[in-house]
Amino acid sequence: MDSTTGVIIPAAGSGTRMGSGQVKQLLSLRGRPVLAHTVHRLMMLETVRYLVIPTSPELIQTTRNIASQCLREAGREKDVILDVIHGGDERMDSVKNGLLHLMGSSADVVLIHDAVRPCFPLNAVREAIRLALSNGAAILGIPASDTVKVVRDGQVVSTPERKSVWLAQTPQVFRKDILVDAYKKAEKSGFKATDDASLAEFAGYPVYMVRGSQENIKITYPSDLFFAEKWVQSHSAV
Ligand code: CTP
Ligand code: MG
Repeated sequence: MDSTTGVIIPAAGSGTRMGSGQVKQLLSLRGRPVLAHTVHRLMMLETVRYLVIPTSPELIQTTRNIASQCLREAGREKDVILDVIHGGDERMDSVKNGLLHLMGSSADVVLIHDAVRPCFPLNAVREAIRLALSNGAAILGIPASDTVKVVRDGQVVSTPERKSVWLAQTPQVFRKDILVDAYKKAEKSGFKATDDASLAEFAGYPVYMVRGSQENIKITYPSDLFFAEKWVQSHSAV
């Protein structure tokens, strides 16, 4: 079963925890911005026809330059429509802007992927796209290796059984109609979340888990840059 995939890369964050004075998506890995590595790898997915990147107003031009160079290098500038748009205050707002942008497009599947995760496994993503198309929603994640505690006011309140705890990653992939409905329902009831799958769950849709990879880190702290630099050195073509 073939799909038309619309990709949204939220890239409007300010990188507070990194504390580098520059946004994480533009930090350099082997001489190229993190975002370039991420876009380059996403362009290896054959079904992508739309690429929407929400970012902050002052980064629109830079972001457009980076992404269009990646499309050219991948030979995808003719078959992928690129739009760089305004993000929002929260990640959820940025994704919502991207989704509004894709509403009238022919994309049947929407794939959301953090700009700051350049080390994702391609075959797992292909599997998630297939699953989303057939079952509605699929995300990448890994089983927790540590025991997870729920803590309130410094006190442990519960311990979920470790074998049922997975850590969510991106890409997260949804049939477009499901994601639109999930965002509408969340907005109507003021539901906030830190990933997109939570919104689909809130709206009552089943979400399937595909085993991602431990290497698929979200670059958050300075030490993550060392890992990502090494990773792109051995895996990336850019
Ligand atoms: N993001 C976004 N719009 C926001 C906030 C975040 O598009 N208002 C994006 C980031 O650019 C990143 C992804 O969402 O690609 C994951 O966010 P996170 O890792 O939290 O990045 P930042 O928000 O930039 O970092 P921090 O939370 O440390 O400030
Ligand atoms: Mg953030």
